[in-house]
Amino acid sequence: MRTKGAQLFLSLFLVVATFFHLHPIGAAATTDGDGQRYGDIKAIDYIRTSCNVTLYPDVCFSSLSRYANAVQQNPAQLARVAIAVSLSKVHNMASYINNLTREADYSANSRATSALHDCFSNLDDAVDEIRGSLKQMRQIGAAGAGGESFRFQMSNVQTWMSAALTDEETCTDGFEDVQDGHVKTDVCDRVTRVKKFTSNALALVNSYADQGIP
Ligand SMILES: *[C@@H]1O[C@H](CO)[C@@H](O)[C@H](O)[C@H]1NC(C)=O
Ligand SMILES: *[C@@H]1O[C@H](CO)[C@@H](O)[C@H](O)[C@H]1NC(C)=O
Repeated sequence: MRTKGAQLFLSLFLVVATFFHLHPIGAAATTDGDGQRYGDIKAIDYIRTSCNVTLYPDVCFSSLSRYANAVQQNPAQLARVAIAVSLSKVHNMASYINNLTREADYSANSRATSALHDCFSNLDDAVDEIRGSLKQMRQIGAAGAGGESFRFQMSNVQTWMSAALTDEETCTDGFEDVQDGHVKTDVCDRVTRVKKFTSNALALVNSYADQGIP
């Protein structure tokens, strides 16, 4: 009797233990949460591989991998996200330069002041071009866009992103004749870093355009 009671107790214990202990694990393994995590791992691998076509793969991966969920394994989404990141960096940089020009207007170094004003104007143009690219990317694949129209739309994006990169380069070139100093170093370092995001976005745009499918 005693052993039977013990056996019953043990079976009950196992049932209860199984229910409380194994059930949550079993359930967790089949929830969307894990499917999602698995999808993100694949998306992160996809972003890492895609970033290999860029000039700055580390900057590319570290700035885009956080958007794995939105990108999945979609080259159009990846290009879109890269353009959006570039837009935010350049926009922020333009605002930073604009702040500096206000301080510089009171300074005696007119060459630096003029380089800052030109730089702001160039970055402002770049912001417009990148914004236009993002808008165009959002229209791609929209209602009945055929192959020819895809090529046309992508060539617009490629042209505008290249123009933005050139404008950013013109900003740093404008400091060549400016005497070395804190402002010159600060601006050139920052703009050189921002340029990497635009360059990477352009590379991902080119890679997507080469695939030829919306
Ligand atoms: C990136 O390219 C390099 C050189 O071509 C290659 O060795 C590496 O495996 C690639 N990495 C990925 C993640 O594709
Ligand atoms: C520019 O100045 C404004 C007002 O002082 C400030 O809010 C903003 O954060 C500054 N922008 C940058 C990028 O430093």
